[in-house]
Amino acid sequence: MSIIKVVLIFLLTSFETVHAGNSDANEAIIVEMQSVASTFVKSLGKTLKATIKSEGLAAAIHVCETVAPTLANQLSRETGWRVSRVSLKFRNPLIGMPDAWEKEQLINFSNAPLSNNTQPDVMEVTSIEDNSEGHSIRYMRALPTKALCLTCHGKSTDIPNEVSSALEQFYPNDKATGYSLGQIRGAISIQTNRD
Ligand code: HEC
Repeated sequence: MSIIKVVLIFLLTSFETVHAGNSDANEAIIVEMQSVASTFVKSLGKTLKATIKSEGLAAAIHVCETVAPTLANQLSRETGWRVSRVSLKFRNPLIGMPDAWEKEQLINFSNAPLSNNTQPDVMEVTSIEDNSEGHSIRYMRALPTKALCLTCHGKSTDIPNEVSSALEQFYPNDKATGYSLGQIRGAISIQTNRD
C-alpha cells in the first residue's frame, strides 16, 4: 500500500467522528493547524541551517534546544492551541514524550513503508474527539529524518565528535540517535483545548 493511501485512510477514519453540524468549523481548524505545522517546519529548518553555517554544528544544538520549544510556545500563544514536538525516541523527556494518542500515531507513521524518494511531502493525521470530557481536535504531522537531521540524530558514524560530546553533556539519557535517512524522527503535534 502506498503511503499516500495510508495517510488518506487516517484522514477518512478520523473524519468519521465529525458531527454534521460543526464539520465546516472543524475542517477550517484543521486547515489552520496544517498551516501552523508548516510554519514550524519552515522556520526551524531555516534557523537550523543558518546557525550551522554561521556558528557551527555544536552551537546549532541550542537551536533545537531553545528555538524549537520557544517557537512551539509562541505558536501556542498565537493560536490558543497546544503545539509541541514529540517522538517515540525522545531526546528531551520533559517535552518530547508522546501521550497515548500521539504514540499510536507515531507508530503508524513509522510503520508506513518509507524510503527516500517515496515519502510524501506531508504525512499527517487528524482526530476529532467528542466524548464526555468535551470536544477536541488533534493534528499531527510526521517529521522525517532528512540529511540535515543526521548530524544530530543519526548513527554514531554520522555524528561529528563535537556534537556527540555536547549531546552527552546536555542529554545524558538521549534516546534520539541511530536514525537513518527517511525514517520518522518524530512529529509536530497540535491540539485544541477541550470545550
Ligand atoms: C544541531 C543538532 C540538531 C539537528 C541538526 C537536528 N536536531 Fe532535532 N533535536 C536536537 C536537540 C538538542 C533536541 C532536544 C531539544 C530539547 O531539549 O527540547 C532535538 C529534539 C528534536 C525533536 C523533539 C523530540 C525529542 O527528541 O525530544 C524532534 C521531533 C527533532 N529534534 C527532529 C529533528 C528533525 C526532523 C531534524 C532535521 C530536520 C532535526 N531534529 C535536526 C538537535 C538537533
